[in-house]
Amino acid sequence: MLTIIYVKRKKEDEEEEVLIGISPRPNTFSYSELKDATQDFSPSKKLGEGGFGPVYKGTLPDGRVVAVKQLSLSSNQGKEQFVTEIATISAVHHRNLVKLYGCCIGGNSRLLVYEYHVNKSLDQALWGKNGLHLDWPTRFNIILSTAKGLAYLHEESKPKIVHRDVKASNILLNEELCPKISDFGLAKLYDDKNTHVTTRAAGTIGYLAPEYAMRGHLTEKVDVFSYGVLALEIISGRPNSDNTLEDEEVYLLEWAWTLHENNQLLSLPDPRLAEFDKDEALRVMKVALLCTQASPSIRPPMSRVVAMLSGDTEVNNVTTKPSYITDWDFKDITEAFVNGETQTSIGTDNSRSEIKSRSKTISSLDDQSTLTTEFRETIAEGR
Ligand SMILES: Nc1ncnc2c1ncn2[C@@H]1O[C@H](COP(=O)(O)OP(=O)(O)O)[C@@H](O)[C@H]1O
Ligand SMILES: [Mg+2]
Repeated sequence: MLTIIYVKRKKEDEEEEVLIGISPRPNTFSYSELKDATQDFSPSKKLGEGGFGPVYKGTLPDGRVVAVKQLSLSSNQGKEQFVTEIATISAVHHRNLVKLYGCCIGGNSRLLVYEYHVNKSLDQALWGKNGLHLDWPTRFNIILSTAKGLAYLHEESKPKIVHRDVKASNILLNEELCPKISDFGLAKLYDDKNTHVTTRAAGTIGYLAPEYAMRGHLTEKVDVFSYGVLALEIISGRPNSDNTLEDEEVYLLEWAWTLHENNQLLSLPDPRLAEFDKDEALRVMKVALLCTQASPSIRPPMSRVVAMLSGDTEVNNVTTKPSYITDWDFKDITEAFVNGETQTSIGTDNSRSEIKSRSKTISSLDDQSTLTTEFRETIAEGR
């Protein structure tokens, strides 16, 4: 018994040591504190489950309501590296980013403690069953504020951060329905775990920029692409791929291009919107088409997106239909990517059963070498 206590002490001391050397030092919670907060990680407290693991609602002794995310990192993930990474993320602050209160590294557990947002995630608000109605001013604010949050991550925060998994379920809504971007910085933890697979894409199918999906080429323009897809989802009120729709409407990006070419973009906005500002809506859609251009260099930086959306800068004309829509049989290949409404995060650990069971995904670029080659050729031609 004594030995056990001693071993436990020693372990905790070592963890303390790891933390002492790190600056800024992240706030830490003990495992038992979080266990109590979430009623022993009770299924009734579960908020959802993503590619990284389950998320539980909890209440801390000081009354703060939190979302506790249990990361399914393998135990060989270095503690020091984990804490350093969390320290970095905790130091990044912006009104459109979710607050990370701290972490827990007790034993082999890796937990993250976030501020809880009562209206949960945007995907649930847009096409879930939570009964929220997002009117036009609310949607426009979500689109603009999310752009501001990303512009901050890319251009102002130190260090600059590429999110890599911008999608509707990573945008949380607070009481006033203002957006808070969550999970920034997390994909990096997965990449660093297995250095030999750093080229593997971490992101979610349907939002993935072609150069990243196919070649692992990572810049902040990868987020700009995902943001463009997200903006179209917010305006249309439908997910980026929906097999229940008419053939030509299944893929949102492709459908938006068809409408743009026929000068009918104004029929894209969600029919549930009783009214919307046509100028703002057109601006959003044109910006979204710019953001999803095949060539990353044509996609605007996020600060420019903010300026265009707020009307401070003209929206450049979108003239080039992306080669991945024009040249590529989009449907055949994306069918292998997407499975109905479920969007699954693709991390670097393709053994995670969730990925296998929930959707047919490219969990490894190597698995899809034919696809990779085919796509690479298309991209090369398109430039
Ligand atoms: N801070 C939070 N406040 C409220 N709900 C949250 C919070 N963080 C996550 N959630 C909910 O838990 C779900 C799972 O989160 P996550 O593990 O990040 O997976 P994903 O982003 O892939 O859906 C989210 O879709 C969201 O609905
Ligand atoms: Mg998330």
